[in-house]
Amino acid sequence: MSRLRIAVLASGRGSNLQALIDARAAGVFDAEFAGVFSDRPDAVALQRAAGAGIPRQALRPVDFADRAAFDDAFFDAVAAVQPDLIVCAGYMRLIGERHVVRFADRMINIHPSLLPAHPGLHTHRRALEDGVRRHGASVHYVIPAVDAGPVLAQAAVDVRAGDTPDSLGERVLAREHVLLPACVALIAGGRLRYDGGRVVLDGAPLTRPLQLDSDDRLTPAA
Ligand code: GAR
Repeated sequence: MSRLRIAVLASGRGSNLQALIDARAAGVFDAEFAGVFSDRPDAVALQRAAGAGIPRQALRPVDFADRAAFDDAFFDAVAAVQPDLIVCAGYMRLIGERHVVRFADRMINIHPSLLPAHPGLHTHRRALEDGVRRHGASVHYVIPAVDAGPVLAQAAVDVRAGDTPDSLGERVLAREHVLLPACVALIAGGRLRYDGGRVVLDGAPLTRPLQLDSDDRLTPAA
C-alpha cells in the first residue's frame, strides 16, 4: 500500500493539526501531509503547517460570490493535492453537499462531543446544562447531514463537580489529541475504511464506535 496522503482542513488554533504533526513525527502513523487548508488566512493552524514544512493555502469566503463558489474553489484546491484522506480538524464551515459527496469515502471530522449527543456548537456548555456524567469527542466520516456520519471512534471523559465549559473542554481537547492520530493510524495502516456507507475494521463492519481506553488504545466498545 502506498503512503497515505492527508489533507487537513482547519479554521483556528490548530491544536489537533499539531497533534497529528507530532504523532507522525513520533511514528504513531506513516503518512504524508499533502496540504493544510483554511478559510481564515490568520489561522494559527497555517503557522503550525509552515513550521512543519507542510504546503498550505487559505481562501477567504468574502472573496467569493456565495457559499457554493467558495466551496468549489476551496475543494478544488484540496483535490489538487490528491489526498487519500481529508481530516477536518476544527474546520468550522459547513461543507456543501456536492463536496461532501465528492469526497464521501475519505473525509473525517473530529467533533467535541459523544455523538449522537450534542451535534453543532457549544458542546461543552450544552453537555453541562444537560447534566451528563460523561462527555468527550468523536471522530466520524462526513456525510451531508451535519455531525451525523458514522462514528469510528470516541474518547470519553468524566464530568467533574464544579466543571465549567472551559475546564471540561480542556480535558476533552487533551483526549482529542490522542484520539485523532489513533484514528488516522488505523486508516493509514489500511485497517479501517469507509465502504458503501459502512465503517469496516479489519474486514468486518464496525457496529459500535471504538473507544479510546486509558492506555490510549482504541478498543471495541464493551
Ligand atoms: C476541537 O475541539 C474540535 O473538536 C472542534 O473545534 C476544536 C478545534 O480545535 N471542532 C468542531 O467543533 C467542529 N464542529 P483546534 O483548532 O485547536 O484543533
